[in-house]
Amino acid sequence: MNEVRNKVARHYDEVAEIYDRRYDRSRGRSYYSHISRHVLACLPKGRNLLDLGCGTGLFVQHYTGQGGKAIGLDLSRGMIVRARSRCGGSQFAVGTAEVLPFRDGCFDAVASLLAFSYVHEPEKMLREVYRVLRPGGSIAVCTLGRNLLTSGLPAVYTLGEAMRIRHVGMGAFRERYYTVDEMKELFLDAGFEDLLIRRCTFAHLNLIDPLYDIARRLEPFVEENIPQLAYNILASGKKSEE
Ligand SMILES: C[S@@+](CC[C@H](N)C(=O)[O-])C[C@H]1O[C@@H](n2cnc3c(N)ncnc32)[C@H](O)[C@@H]1O
Repeated sequence: MNEVRNKVARHYDEVAEIYDRRYDRSRGRSYYSHISRHVLACLPKGRNLLDLGCGTGLFVQHYTGQGGKAIGLDLSRGMIVRARSRCGGSQFAVGTAEVLPFRDGCFDAVASLLAFSYVHEPEKMLREVYRVLRPGGSIAVCTLGRNLLTSGLPAVYTLGEAMRIRHVGMGAFRERYYTVDEMKELFLDAGFEDLLIRRCTFAHLNLIDPLYDIARRLEPFVEENIPQLAYNILASGKKSEE
């Protein structure tokens, strides 16, 4: 397991400098704002947040932009270097989401965006999240869901790695994409309650121009009425008050 984890860390070290070109410019920025809005809606504002797999600090910036403080943790040192320069007022640490170097009950909220699919021991990560949340604290995870489109991605990424294509996420990392039911089971087993688990996001960054605009306009309708076509999963819950 450590071998794959090291490979993920090396990959993100290598793409750290191009990562923000994908998610913090034009089309990528609108995609990222869309998922951030979904995640923010599940979390208390202006509190003490932990962001797991925080990357270059994009979500930490979204969260603290509305007040509050945040700590980000990520496997990749390269991504953490970028996060530190983006978010001077926040703290960042290198580490794995499955073993959290924080004391019990010290966060009001935990977020994780586009990172959960890489975590090989999701049960362990969620148990750790439960431990570090205060009673009544919230978790929100946004990760690729499993559907017809995403089931083919690992094969495409493995091929991309063999062809030495330098692209964010391109590689054989034994990523795992979840169904709504699987996420529900993981969250319940970890002890979370008040679960809200649904699909979101329809406009994909890699669509060609006219199709991307059409998909963006259809997105709210798809999310509401035909969620099976949406490709991310948004899962949120709370730690019990007692
Ligand atoms: C696609 S990037 C997402 C980054 C950031 N959350 C964002 O939304 O821009 C995936 C990130 O997850 C991190 N990651 C993968 N597995 C991890 C783990 N087990 N613990 C902590 N971070 C991890 C990677 O290093 C990478 O920075």
